[in-house]
Amino acid sequence: MSLLFAIAAFVTTTVVAAAPYTAYPVYPPYCSTPEQMQQRGVPPLQQGSSYGASQLRHVTAVIRHGARTPWAGNLPCWADFDPQPWNCELQTTITPEVSAAWFRKQYDALQSPEYNLTNELIGGTCQLGQLLELGVVQELWNGEQLRDAYFDTASPNMLLSPNKPWESLSYRADDEQRTLMSGRVLLKGLFGNEVTAPLTIPMHTADYERDVVGENENLCPRLTQLRELFYGTDEFRQFNASAEAQQLRDFQRRQLHTDHDLELDCFMTTICTDRTLPDAINDYAGEEQTESMFLRLVNFYIRQYTSFAMANDAEYSKLAMGPLWAEIMDNVDRVIAENGTAYPRLALFSGHDTTIIGLLASLSKVYDGSWPPYASKLLLEIHEIDLDGRKDKALYTTGYGFRLIYNGQVLTDQVEGCPKDTHICDVSVLKRHLNFPLRDRDCSLLDIPTTTTASGVAQVFDLFLSPSGFGVFVVVVLSSMAVGSVLMFVLLSKLQPQLIHRRSYGAASQENPE
Ligand SMILES: *[C@@H]1O[C@H](CO)[C@@H](O)[C@H](O)[C@H]1NC(C)=O
Ligand SMILES: *[C@@H]1O[C@H](CO)[C@@H](O)[C@H](O)[C@H]1NC(C)=O
Ligand SMILES: *[C@@H]1O[C@H](CO)[C@@H](O)[C@H](O)[C@H]1NC(C)=O
Repeated sequence: MSLLFAIAAFVTTTVVAAAPYTAYPVYPPYCSTPEQMQQRGVPPLQQGSSYGASQLRHVTAVIRHGARTPWAGNLPCWADFDPQPWNCELQTTITPEVSAAWFRKQYDALQSPEYNLTNELIGGTCQLGQLLELGVVQELWNGEQLRDAYFDTASPNMLLSPNKPWESLSYRADDEQRTLMSGRVLLKGLFGNEVTAPLTIPMHTADYERDVVGENENLCPRLTQLRELFYGTDEFRQFNASAEAQQLRDFQRRQLHTDHDLELDCFMTTICTDRTLPDAINDYAGEEQTESMFLRLVNFYIRQYTSFAMANDAEYSKLAMGPLWAEIMDNVDRVIAENGTAYPRLALFSGHDTTIIGLLASLSKVYDGSWPPYASKLLLEIHEIDLDGRKDKALYTTGYGFRLIYNGQVLTDQVEGCPKDTHICDVSVLKRHLNFPLRDRDCSLLDIPTTTTASGVAQVFDLFLSPSGFGVFVVVVLSSMAVGSVLMFVLLSKLQPQLIHRRSYGAASQENPE
């Protein structure tokens, strides 16, 4: 079945009912209020002499979807959870190619709570994880910021042809309402004005369970294994048993009456939509006010996820994002090889927070550990350089350079091997960082033995507990595979309870990334 979505149906409603962002004095960056979105435009290219005259040839934009309803059905999050139903004005409108009629998809068929016949989000008309109007506003901002940077005839970086700009677009998303819709709304902001007649744009997607836009542990069992091994490291166990962790769990039990670690989702879908937080955690006063219970709980969750995304030279992230990097670099290679014709000028990838974390973390020191806000955008610009033959040949070995921008900040010079204070770095440096297996990754389970000899035990144990983490542990285990030990078996069986992860990644179709 082929359902194509016409551009005319981008947005059926964009009016936000009540004035948003009025219940709290300050909102976390995660919320992406208009003031926060305004800070995330594309900075002008800082001209440098080291790469000579340059011309922008291509942009890959990887976005996170905008604000959405809760994605996990484990509601209510805490006692006194705000009972306001989730109602969605914005619906997805679809038409089969053979039909002239439009169909609006409304999640309002089950409304009998007395018989337990309800949506996951009880009492409203929203799908689990559906894009909200707040999210539409955010993605329109994104579209307009890309328009200002790449599609303004006055811009030195004019990239898209003023005539039928969509012909040099490639649009990719995973098969979820919020990501598909986020990209469509962004494109409406980018060149909606140019669309004067009905038009069909392909959205490249795949079966969700097989897709690689987010980390997909179902598809790649080694990912699950790496995460579990990380949870068994001394580093993680110390963090998880720290005084802070104990205090926070105790606080949750006493004040919020929950005995499981809360999802980031619980905090953010509440505060970002002006729903009421329990008094005990209604103390957010900006990212600097670190004694806030709200922020302490949020940061506790964030660290649990981001620490394994970055651990051991981002081994997990590289394995998870290899195939997506391959898609991104296919376009980049076409830009370089074909010199100006058959490649997409703009490649838009609409994904998740974990997509952005994985891509950033896999470029060594670039990721700072902060959580990608709604509608985050990561831009990879490809510039043809040395057009005047005046580049610094020591720094630039090819004819192409890249600029990396994340939510308005140029990150290029944080990529190891790139010149300091320069926006453009040679593409070969990017490729050097991507020298891990991309499509040809190995997802098979690491062969960890259940027995080793007594002599190997102490050594393995020491290394396992050393700060350098399980990377060394894995190496040692692999190299001592033939040896064997009972202790190894004990260590591994201790990991078993942790196999039941609080999020049970990818266990069911509802367990999609955020
Ligand atoms: C209602 O249905 C949900 C989903 O099947 C189930 O998890 C829950 O236990 C049911 N509740 C009652 C009161 O039957
Ligand atoms: C962290 O510690 C808590 C409390 O002891 C435990 O329930 C949880 O499973 C631990 N998390 C991991 C990933 O091991
Ligand atoms: C790209 O093509 C232009 C003319 O079409 C040519 O002048 C230029 O040298 C080419 N650049 C590269 C890197 O091949």
